[in-house]
Amino acid sequence: MRVLVVGSGGREHALAWAIAASPLVDNLYCAPGNAGIADEAECVPIAANDTLGIIKFCRREQIDFVVVGPEAPLVAGLVDALEAAGIAAFGPSAAAAALEGSKSFMKDLCAREGIPTAAYRRFTDASAAKAYIAAQGAPIVVKADGLAAGKGVMVAASVAEANGAVDAALGGRFGAAGAEIIVEEFLAGEEASFFALVDGNEALPLASAQDHKRVGDGDTGPNTGGMGAYSPVRSMTPTVEASVMQRIIRPTVAAMRRKGRPFKGVLFAGLMLTSEGPKLLEYNVRFGDPECQTLMMRLKSDLLPALIAARDGNLRDVDLRWHDEAALCVVMAANGYPDDPQRGSEIRGLEEAGNDADVKIFHAGTRRDGSRIVADGGRVLGVTALGRDLAAARERAYRAIGGIEWTGGFCRSDIGARRGP
Ligand code: AMP
Ligand code: GLY
Repeated sequence: MRVLVVGSGGREHALAWAIAASPLVDNLYCAPGNAGIADEAECVPIAANDTLGIIKFCRREQIDFVVVGPEAPLVAGLVDALEAAGIAAFGPSAAAAALEGSKSFMKDLCAREGIPTAAYRRFTDASAAKAYIAAQGAPIVVKADGLAAGKGVMVAASVAEANGAVDAALGGRFGAAGAEIIVEEFLAGEEASFFALVDGNEALPLASAQDHKRVGDGDTGPNTGGMGAYSPVRSMTPTVEASVMQRIIRPTVAAMRRKGRPFKGVLFAGLMLTSEGPKLLEYNVRFGDPECQTLMMRLKSDLLPALIAARDGNLRDVDLRWHDEAALCVVMAANGYPDDPQRGSEIRGLEEAGNDADVKIFHAGTRRDGSRIVADGGRVLGVTALGRDLAAARERAYRAIGGIEWTGGFCRSDIGARRGP
């Protein structure tokens, strides 16, 4: 088969790495890819949002299957456009991607279906939102409705802070994504992510993972796309997982089908494990980055037939096997990330550092400059390791990091160190 992966981050490197190992693959391409992805696939300089360019490339190269990594092209309808052009593609339609693209769509669906989630109200008017906040009290959570690159959520410790978030969002800080807001109940508990493959009808559970969103050790500093992750999450026991499938994932898949927006692709549930059981914080309609890196390290089975089955509606026939080991990914980011990442610094020692069968260094934002590898983004590397348990995986990942010579970057030193109850 001739396969194209769309995207350029660590998630797409992990997907390309897993897909390249499939005996079904003759040629693997990535648009636009990065310096690490170039080891697994032929990178082609087409942006992930260049729908026409991607379709033209697929026609010219007779691509059999496209795997779309990031959310923005999914929400913008890349899979619809590819399928309309007769090109098979993995990922949800724009209509189904609304589960991530519009928080009010997601919350209204949960409310109708009785899916456990935080109590909420929708607002477009600041004074109405503030009156509601005053009545509810703090802590309380204010969210922009649309995609805001992970920055649209404010967990407010005080009413004043919440009011400030209302003014910022409705005042245009997130553009159209913040023209409507959700004000919702604060949920206490441990967070976990859960991933399932969905084929429109059936949902196949994948695995759990936990991200570390703040830039600094001890969960301090601004939010990022994710500074590290591990899988599995200890508190996501088989019982909790069964409850997530039964009370959250399956009712969502059934509702989407009934609404004429059948969901195909990866459903990524952001969960709060509360004293009343798991509750849905948010949906994403694609693999998490860097959660995907840990999932791909743990996956024993061939990924590609499972992705094709999800697209074709045949997930019932798929049985995926996983390593029992834990996987842990430490993100190395360019100095200045997330506000002002510095590009262009040289990274050395990658080959030696990654010279361990249980370590894989995924590239998130790198570029080749002659014989040098240089930083070319905010999140730059995802150093990922397998180990018999979380502690062993963590030790191996940080040992590999010790071998990387890069003065222009940093990482958190406590990924996977704080374990949940
Ligand atoms: P979201 O993008 O909706 O997942 O929100 C980003 C982060 O905000 C989550 O990972 C949580 O840490 C936090 N958060 C979101 N909603 C809530 C809530 N209702 N209660 C407590 N924390 C929340
Ligand atoms: N790591 C969080 C995300 O991919 O949304």
